[in-house]
Amino acid sequence: MDADLLKGLNEHLKLEFRASHEYLAMSVWLAEHDLPGFARWVRQQSGDELLHAQRIIDHLVERDQKVVLPAVPAPPSGWDTAEAVCEHIMRNEQEVTASIDALYSLAEKVRDRPATVMLQWFVNEQMEEEAAARGLLGRIRLAGNTGVGLLMIDQELSAGRVPGIQSQAPASTA
Ligand SMILES: [Fe+2]
Repeated sequence: MDADLLKGLNEHLKLEFRASHEYLAMSVWLAEHDLPGFARWVRQQSGDELLHAQRIIDHLVERDQKVVLPAVPAPPSGWDTAEAVCEHIMRNEQEVTASIDALYSLAEKVRDRPATVMLQWFVNEQMEEEAAARGLLGRIRLAGNTGVGLLMIDQELSAGRVPGIQSQAPASTA
């Protein structure tokens, strides 16, 4: 594998682990602030981020490339509002998308087809992640920072309905 691409994929792991760690911290803060639906959705995102990191790790292991796991910084312990949580999620996802875009371009440039195919999955995934973050942020800005609006959004998330996502999976009962 091209040395810069290998370095870039390993560096990208940090963004996925950081997002997972920060989303876990957000889910704790949201649960503490009586928003169980929101907390559960963000906790699910935290788990998904670990699976994203695992996807890249598996790709590198399968191709006999060196995996270098990153140090993960401590997440913030609090946010001022649920809107601030959503803004933070949006920023994270945009940063991850930018990193995936750069890696995809590099994989194409060095004609690494397996990496390009692997990264294609992330291109689609990031479109969904950003749509969900944008949808949620939009609804919170419309109605959310008051008690009743925020409770309605929390109930939507409890029911598994995520604003901005067209194909709605039913809420997990696990
Ligand atoms: Fe991710």
